[in-house]
Amino acid sequence: MNEPSQSDAQIHVLFVCLGNICRSPLGEALFRHHADAGGHAGCFRVDSAGTAAYHIGEPPDSRSAETARRRGVQLAGRARRLEPSDFYDFDHIVAMDRSNLEDIEAARPSDARARVHLLRSFDPEADGDEDVPDPYYGGPDGFDRVHDIVDRSTRALLAHLAGEAR
Ligand code: 4NP
Repeated sequence: MNEPSQSDAQIHVLFVCLGNICRSPLGEALFRHHADAGGHAGCFRVDSAGTAAYHIGEPPDSRSAETARRRGVQLAGRARRLEPSDFYDFDHIVAMDRSNLEDIEAARPSDARARVHLLRSFDPEADGDEDVPDPYYGGPDGFDRVHDIVDRSTRALLAHLAGEAR
């Protein structure tokens, strides 16, 4: 019998926002950071994507990247759009807000296996808030607030998914 490859044994997690330059690259980086810190690095494959095409090929937003860098996390990668194949390649697709969630559900092939979640459904301090607010058109404070939300929510998501890791 063939041994499963490492990637087959991993849980594949995709973070999705609108532009894939502010929130979802941060979700990807913070989830990976928490997984590494918790000794789960090999258990997960993590990526991010956007529902819109505006920023394809661009690096993360400099304000989001600078806030993350100041707080000890490096953002990486280039923006890409959510693709139909993502629904088969990933076990979990994690939306930053309800608008993203609607767009993801609308794009979902009927036989897709990925499970789709709202990130803040894992936020222990959500207090009824369901969305990671879009910081793109706001001031610099917005990026710190988004960082706080995504930090604690990805930590809780990791704890949830680590129970599934084989
Ligand atoms: P993100 O933020 O969805 O968190 O990457 C945005 C990036 C770009 C735009 C809106 C939100 N935009 O309108 O271009």
